[in-house]
Amino acid sequence: MKAASPPRQIVATDPAALAVVAAERLMARIAANAGRIAICLTGGSSPKQLYQLLASERYASRIPWDRMHWFIGDERFVGPSDPLNNMGIARSIFLDRLAPQGHVHPIPTGAATPGDAAQAYERELQSFYGASALEPARPLFDLVLMGVGPDGHTASLFPGDPALAETARWVTAVAKANVAPFVPRVTLTLPALASCHEMLFGIAGKEKHAILTRLLAGENLPANRARSMGETVFLMDEAAFGGEPLER
Ligand code: 6PG
Repeated sequence: MKAASPPRQIVATDPAALAVVAAERLMARIAANAGRIAICLTGGSSPKQLYQLLASERYASRIPWDRMHWFIGDERFVGPSDPLNNMGIARSIFLDRLAPQGHVHPIPTGAATPGDAAQAYERELQSFYGASALEPARPLFDLVLMGVGPDGHTASLFPGDPALAETARWVTAVAKANVAPFVPRVTLTLPALASCHEMLFGIAGKEKHAILTRLLAGENLPANRARSMGETVFLMDEAAFGGEPLER
């Protein structure tokens, strides 16, 4: 596999402008693929504005819903209707109203253990992909959305956790979260997340400035180990970046 290219940096004015850039990048990925499109969503609070935009008439009318499939990069091990459930948040903002049944692929947190949920989701991803080994020339996802936590975690890949070193599994359980909410997690692994045309990090707010500075300095943190085999983009707002916009 070719070495991942360094992330492209885009600075938007504020979280609202950031959401528009993210939505337009999603539309560009849709335009680049005339077939079935796989999007891997992210949890946390950052993507909410993007999800609201996708639900708005401006975008909802342009999205080919019958060709779209929606996955999630990590999940908190709580029931589907728990307010902490990442896919539950995306469902309530846009998917339940707009995505056809069977096109939303949540991590099954009703499983007996996080390990069982991880295995079941891996099987679901492999069945969707049509193979049990990822092929570099055929990415699993068109677009993978990512967030960054204050400790540099991304998805539920926390600094020092064995999940970061996983190279064989596509999905794995994480017994202990490093930041709130302190519930077990299920996360896609680095190789599964890498299997995409584009990985788009959304990083907004002044509370993200310290960790973003460390990431941009090249520190060995999970969010710097997650890279697309295609394009990786750091989409930041001015408060997080703490500087002048590089591109609007
Ligand atoms: C989760 C996440 C996690 C998140 C970051 C950023 O389940 O918590 O998927 O990786 O993206 O922690 O979270 P915020 O958007 O809330 O800052």
